Amino acid sequence: EANSKPRVLVAEKLGRGGLDLLKGFADVDCAYNLSPEELRAKIALCDALVVRSGTKVGRDVFEASGGRLRVVGRAGVGIDNVDLAAATEHGCLVVNAPTANTVAAAEHGIALLTAMARNIARSDASMKSGKWERNKYVGVSLVGKTLAILGFGKVGSEVARRAKGLGLHVIAHDPYAAADRAHAVGVDLVTFDEAIAKADFISLHMPLTPSTSKILNDEAFAKMKKGVRIINVARGGVIDEEALVKALDSGVVAQTSSADNKLVLHEKVTATPHLGASTVEAQEEVAIEIAEAVLGALKGEL
Ligand code: MLT
Repeated sequence: EANSKPRVLVAEKLGRGGLDLLKGFADVDCAYNLSPEELRAKIALCDALVVRSGTKVGRDVFEASGGRLRVVGRAGVGIDNVDLAAATEHGCLVVNAPTANTVAAAEHGIALLTAMARNIARSDASMKSGKWERNKYVGVSLVGKTLAILGFGKVGSEVARRAKGLGLHVIAHDPYAAADRAHAVGVDLVTFDEAIAKADFISLHMPLTPSTSKILNDEAFAKMKKGVRIINVARGGVIDEEALVKALDSGVVAQTSSADNKLVLHEKVTATPHLGASTVEAQEEVAIEIAEAVLGALKGEL
C-alpha cells in the first residue's frame, strides 16, 4: 500500500531524470533552503536524504532522524559536508555520485586557468565600469608553461589531458596515483615539493580531508615561484586563507580562484560560487547517478 513506500527528502535541486527515478519507487519530498531546524524536523519522517554541497548533514541530523534514516545521497563527489562517523554510528549509509560531474569540474578548472592567464574577469569588470585598459591587462601565455596538478584522480587527470592540448607541460603530485596511469596521459608524477617549486600554474584536485586541510600554507607558498597562479575548483579548506592573502599581497601568488568570503573582493582573486559541477549536462547525469545509488541502498542492494 502507499504508506509502505520509502520516503526521500531531496533538500537541494536535483535534475529531473533523477527525481523521476526516485518517484518511481518512493514518496519524494523536495524542500530546498531548509534551516537546520526545519531539516531536523523533517528528517524524522524520512528513509533517505539527498543533498548537494549546500546542506550540512551533521551529527544533529542523524540524531534527529531517530534511526529511520537509512541512506544519505550526496549528489556530487565530495562528502565533506556529511558527518561520516555519525552516519555509521546511526546505521546510515552515505553514497555519492563519483563520476558524473568529473568533466564539468575539469572544464571549470580550465576555464579559470585561461581566464586568469588573460585577465578575463578583471578586464570585463573594467570595461563594464566604462574603462578601456589595454595596458593594465596584458596577460601571460600558456604554451610551454608548467602546470602542477595536486591530486591526480578523476578530475585531475581530465584537467591534465586538456591542459596538454593547450601546450602546457604537466606534472602532478598524488600519493595514491599510479605512475603508469599518469604516463598514459603524458604526465610525470613528482614529489609535492617539486610540483609546487616548478609550477607556473597550480591546480588543486584533492578531497578535503585532515591530511589535505591547508596543504597550501606559509611553508608551501615559500617554495613556489614568484608569480605562480593557483586554480582551486576543489575545496576552499585545502588552502590556508591567511597564508594565501599574504602570498597574494607579496606577489608570490599572482592570481587565484577562490570562493572564500574574505578573498572574493581581493583584486587578484577570480571567484565563482562553487560552480565546478554546475553544467546542465553534469547536473542531469549526477541526478541519475545519485538516484540509482540511493535506490540501490533503499532496496538493500548495496
Ligand atoms: C562535488 O563534490 O562533486 C561538488 O561539490 C558538487 C556540487 O557542486 O554539488
